[in-house]
Amino acid sequence: MEPEIFINFKHYDNAVGKNSEKLLNDFNSIRNQNGLYYCISPTDLWLQKSFPSLKIFGQHVDSNSYGAYTGSISMESMIDIGIKGSLLNHSEKRIGSTTIEETVKKSKKLDFEIVLCVEDLHEVEKYSNLEPTYIAYEPPELIGGNVSVSSAKPEIIAQAAKACNGKTKLLVGAGVKTRKDIEVSMDLGASGVLIASGIIRNTKPINMLVSLSNNR
Ligand code: G3P
Repeated sequence: MEPEIFINFKHYDNAVGKNSEKLLNDFNSIRNQNGLYYCISPTDLWLQKSFPSLKIFGQHVDSNSYGAYTGSISMESMIDIGIKGSLLNHSEKRIGSTTIEETVKKSKKLDFEIVLCVEDLHEVEKYSNLEPTYIAYEPPELIGGNVSVSSAKPEIIAQAAKACNGKTKLLVGAGVKTRKDIEVSMDLGASGVLIASGIIRNTKPINMLVSLSNNR
């Protein structure tokens, strides 16, 4: 089975605004977009309209609806411009457990996909009963580094996959840089990866994505 690859643009200078558009334009040259997801900055989400065949996700979504909520990114406003899902509780954008619960429950009613990010096995176990579409396990100490989660914590990936119980798909992230990292994660029970610097900070992001997604 082909891995699902979620590319987190974060707020890197080469991946926001005009540069986000440029990257999406390059990534759009990949003919087979199955399993590829682009998690872009909230101010760039409107680009979904320009790239209708790409699966663009948010990096964060708030639990509130429309109303007097200054600075909010509501699920409704994302759905309105064609966005189908979002990361939630990323290690760099942590929220409380009550908000996580509210947001995941709401996402199910609105048919919106949530990639719930967690930092350890305890959190995988704690949140898997909410059955978000995905749980992304990312050990914070490995994020942005060169040691991949699949080489540093293989046993936890296998345990996390078991805790997801077939109802939630498991992604793993942090330090992912090679196709081997992805294949090892899949062998351990993950459906794919969440990756940022390995692609976005590469000198040729498109070449890196093509090679990670097995030269599609
Ligand atoms: O969301 C992906 C991220 O937190 C992992 O970052 O740079 O280690 O791939 P990176």
